[in-house]
Amino acid sequence: MGLAIILLSFLTHFTTSNAMDVHLLRPFSGIGDHPVTGVSCDSWRFAVETNNMRGWLTVPPTCENYIGNYMIGGHYRNDSAVVNAEAMKYVAGLELGSDGKDVWIFDIDETSLSNLPYYAHHGFGVEAYNDTSFNAWVRKSRAPALPESLKLYKRLMSLGIKVIFLSGRSEDTREATACNLKRVGYHTWEKLILRRNGDKSLAVMYKSGVRKTLVKQGYEIVGNIGDQWSDILGSPEGDRTFKLPDPMYYLS
Ligand SMILES: *[C@@H]1O[C@H](CO)[C@@H](O)[C@H](O)[C@H]1NC(C)=O
Ligand SMILES: *[C@@H]1O[C@H](CO)[C@@H](O)[C@H](O)[C@H]1NC(C)=O
Ligand SMILES: [Mg+2]
Repeated sequence: MGLAIILLSFLTHFTTSNAMDVHLLRPFSGIGDHPVTGVSCDSWRFAVETNNMRGWLTVPPTCENYIGNYMIGGHYRNDSAVVNAEAMKYVAGLELGSDGKDVWIFDIDETSLSNLPYYAHHGFGVEAYNDTSFNAWVRKSRAPALPESLKLYKRLMSLGIKVIFLSGRSEDTREATACNLKRVGYHTWEKLILRRNGDKSLAVMYKSGVRKTLVKQGYEIVGNIGDQWSDILGSPEGDRTFKLPDPMYYLS
């Protein structure tokens, strides 16, 4: 199937955008294309997913098409499915407390909600991120759910494990974020924790600080899932962490 067709069917499924606006991606082999090291974009992706490469600012320009194919062509979804399958196995073996204090932490962007329609439209490289246009996208509350994460959410709810959303989105997006979560199937939560407007602290400090507070409040964090290492590093991490794929951006 051609990429344009994949893109088209993706957008037909998940967004109301005009498909003609889409940033079209060329098919790409992913071999031998890194300008500096000569390594493949596959190897670059491995390095970023394992957190061996840190603080990177953009997808290498020569890997934009590779990443576009990865994200839209099914590989991303498959990788997410493997993470979800492991989380489901872990959940099946959990012995839950009876005090209603067992919680699972979900990050939001690229974990609960997917901004792929935004990136498919704007591109996966240097020009992809623009505060103004990204915030406008967030305010539309139109991000689809990551299907695998939604399955996990539903399983947790059925077992009585409460979900806490912990996001780097700021308080001024609360209404749009809550509306978006509900619209795509995340109907309820124990807490929706957003950043104070203007808080510029590192994500890893902000998120681990919040988890510390939750533990002090008596919550048992049985699981923690996110697409960034800064979602899952920093004590207390939670009893078990799950890292979803995200080769599009890095947040410290
Ligand atoms: C994703 O998984 C499906 C089902 O296992 C498989 O048919 C498909 O080829 C995979 N796609 C990619 C891009 O890995
Ligand atoms: C970001 O997008 C807005 C509106 O779409 C545009 O006016 C602005 O120039 C862009 N900023 C950058 C840095 O590209
Ligand atoms: Mg995220």
